[in-house]
Amino acid sequence: MQVKIRPYKPSDFGRLREMYSDSEEICMGIPSSYAETWIRCLSDGISIIAELNGRLVGHAVVTPLNGKEVSLCVHVRRGFRRRGIGSKMLRYLVDVCRKWGYERIRIVTDEKAVGFFKKMGFKIVRVGYGYEMVLDLTRL
Ligand SMILES: CC(C)(COP(=O)(O)OP(=O)(O)OC[C@H]1O[C@@H](n2cnc3c(N)ncnc32)[C@H](O)[C@@H]1OP(=O)(O)O)[C@@H](O)C(=O)NCCC(=O)NCCS
Repeated sequence: MQVKIRPYKPSDFGRLREMYSDSEEICMGIPSSYAETWIRCLSDGISIIAELNGRLVGHAVVTPLNGKEVSLCVHVRRGFRRRGIGSKMLRYLVDVCRKWGYERIRIVTDEKAVGFFKKMGFKIVRVGYGYEMVLDLTRL
């Protein structure tokens, strides 16, 4: 399976909206009917796409929180999960963040995805509405 990871381009918008609309939820209970608003909310960040045979199968974004930290969102199309696409996108963003001098990646996620982030080296720092987890880039 040759999944290509590349930067998001504005012409991806329609296909990305379709990908999110095809999902039960976007993240943390946000329904897929909010796909358009969600994509626009993330537009300030560094946004990447996973593409397989011309089809969008994943999207991930990091948004700066301050000079040292970014916040992460990652989504893999339903039916394409557990094939290494999420981890490939995350590794790509880790490289970008380290190059730009960021020290931590922060995420708030629900219970279903905690196993994925633990596997990627994130540690739980707080449990509240969701699981707040941090990846320390200075220790990689
Ligand atoms: C979380 C998510 C991004 C993971 O992407 P993925 O492509 O399925 O993950 P990978 O295939 O790269 O998984 C790598 C490893 O993480 C772990 N992992 C992945 N999903 C897991 C799960 N649901 N439960 C436990 N461990 C999991 C496994 O160890 C896996 O390796 P393995 O399949 O060889 O056992 C994907 O499930 C998703 O898009 N979920 C819906 C959106 C979401 O919850 N996003 C996170 C909050 S923004």
